[in-house]
Amino acid sequence: SRLQEAATVEDLRRLAERRAPRLVFDYVDGAAEDERSLRASVEAFDQLVFRPRILRDVGAVTTTTRILGRETSMPLVLGPTGFTRMMHRDGEIGVATAAASAGVPYTLSTMGTTPAADLAAAAGAGWNWFQLYVMRDRGQNLETLAKAREAGMDVLVLTVDVPVAGARLRDVRHGMTIPPTLRWKTAGQAVRRPAWTWDFLTSEPLSFAAAGGSPDDLAGMINTMFDPTTTLADLEWIRGEWEGKILVKGVQDVDDAVDLASIGVDGLVVSNHGGRQLDRAPVPLRLLPGVREAVGPDLDVFLDGGVRSGADIAAAVALGATAAFVGRAYLFGLMAGGHDGVTRMLQIVQAELTRTMQLLGATSIDELDHRLVALEEGTP
Ligand code: FNR
Repeated sequence: SRLQEAATVEDLRRLAERRAPRLVFDYVDGAAEDERSLRASVEAFDQLVFRPRILRDVGAVTTTTRILGRETSMPLVLGPTGFTRMMHRDGEIGVATAAASAGVPYTLSTMGTTPAADLAAAAGAGWNWFQLYVMRDRGQNLETLAKAREAGMDVLVLTVDVPVAGARLRDVRHGMTIPPTLRWKTAGQAVRRPAWTWDFLTSEPLSFAAAGGSPDDLAGMINTMFDPTTTLADLEWIRGEWEGKILVKGVQDVDDAVDLASIGVDGLVVSNHGGRQLDRAPVPLRLLPGVREAVGPDLDVFLDGGVRSGADIAAAVALGATAAFVGRAYLFGLMAGGHDGVTRMLQIVQAELTRTMQLLGATSIDELDHRLVALEEGTP
């Protein structure tokens, strides 16, 4: 099939572009303002140079590792994404079951389109995490956390880089609403993508735990629901309300990383939200080594933004990451072919990671260290 012929995540992206209407594809593929943060994050991976070691026995290689003390098949986490059932009717359950089969964690977003209980019922065999945005309505936060806990989720990812919505200009120009509404401008796109359109019209309407009801533009929705006054005090409050582990996602500064480490969070995600918030934000891959150095070897530090291959994952780990999160990479798979597309994405990156490790002369994730990577040619 076309999914099996896809050899890279970029191939899946092209299939996704052919299956989803333009405004849906652009919601995933796009970023904030002039998309500099996104481009720079991807380019940092393009520019890095591997420094392989030779004559090492790489006959037997394992990509297994430990994330928050628990074994996973590789150093990869499927990160939180909103409105996942808009990309394909398989939605969050399709992604989570693919992650469970592949042996990597999946993170359900506050803005997800599947209730935590339904996700647990369908994908309870996997390791499912929950991502929280702090809402103005504190009672709503408590309810959301209770549902996640009841669904067996034991890791909370607190995303802190959305005090206000970033300006996703592709969405603005499409007049994008959540859920998408049919209007003259977009009807043509829908007609040209009959498979997606049929699926969308015949599946459960996009409802989501967090929001009110009528279609709204995403920025409007975020700005009315999310609490821009959130501080470390709220993190302390959430720690009192959540017994499981807590990661803070959206770390973009070494001093912030040190502050969070010193109050004892379980992990940090160095992230600029895939370039969807502040444009000209720090590039996660370049920030990572400094964060790792500052917080020491024991804290779990994750990175996301621009990870599109197993080689990218190897590089992130070599530069200090415990594991990488991905967003778009699995959404391209999902848009291209639902659950099976996500499975294909996971096969592709697993094979790339294994091959990259062998070519680098590393037989285990522990052996991926900074001497194997230079951020660009000529750097030490
Ligand atoms: C996101 N991201 C995100 N993050 C989060 O904490 N909660 C959310 O609801 C969402 N929603 C969301 C939707 C879409 C369509 C995308 C592409 C991203 C950010 C996501 O978790 C992650 O930080 C980035 O996607 C990482 O960059 P890459 O892997 O997409 O390049």
